[in-house]
Amino acid sequence: MTRTALYPGSFDPVTNGHEDLIRRSLALADRLIVAVAVNAAKTPLFSVEERMALIREVLAGVERVEVRSFDGLLADFAREVGAMMVVRGLRAVSDFEYEFQMALMNRKLNQDLETMFLVPDLNLTFLSSSLVREVARFGGEVSPFVHPVVAKALHKRFGR
Ligand code: PNS
Repeated sequence: MTRTALYPGSFDPVTNGHEDLIRRSLALADRLIVAVAVNAAKTPLFSVEERMALIREVLAGVERVEVRSFDGLLADFAREVGAMMVVRGLRAVSDFEYEFQMALMNRKLNQDLETMFLVPDLNLTFLSSSLVREVARFGGEVSPFVHPVVAKALHKRFGR
C-alpha cells in the first residue's frame, strides 16, 4: 500500500519552514503531494502557477514529491488523489485552534482522512509567508527565510 500524504497550503511564497515540513513528511509518507490552494480567500502576491513553479524549483531533485494545485475542498482533492493523510505544521499554540477545527471538518467531509501535525525546526517557528512578504515589501533581507529562487522572485516582485 502506498501512503500518500497531502501538504496543503497557500505557499505565497514557499518558505524554509514549508521546506522543512516537506522533508519531515517524506520520512513518514511514501509519496507527498504539495497541494497549492487556488481559492484561498486572500489575494495572493504570486499566482498559483508562480507559487507552484517556485516550490518545484525549491524541491528540485527531491524524490517522491509532486506539486499540484487544487480548487474547492481539500477533502475532495484527497479522495481524487488517493491521499490518506494531511500534513499541517504547528508553530505555536496560536495555530492550534484553527488547525484543530480544520482537521475535524476535513474528517467529517472525508472519513478516511487523518491529519498529522508536524512541528518545524525550532529556528523556523517564527516564520510565515505573510511576514516574509511584509519584510520583502519594505526592502528587508529575506534570504535567511526563503530559498534563493524565492528571494529573487520577491525582489523582482517588489521592483528591486
Ligand atoms: O497556508 P494556509 O493559508 O494556512 O492554507 C489553508 C488551506 C489552503 C490548507 C485551507 O484553507 C484549505 O484547505 N482550503 C481549501 C478549502 C477547504 O477544504 N477548507 C477546509 C475545510 S472547511
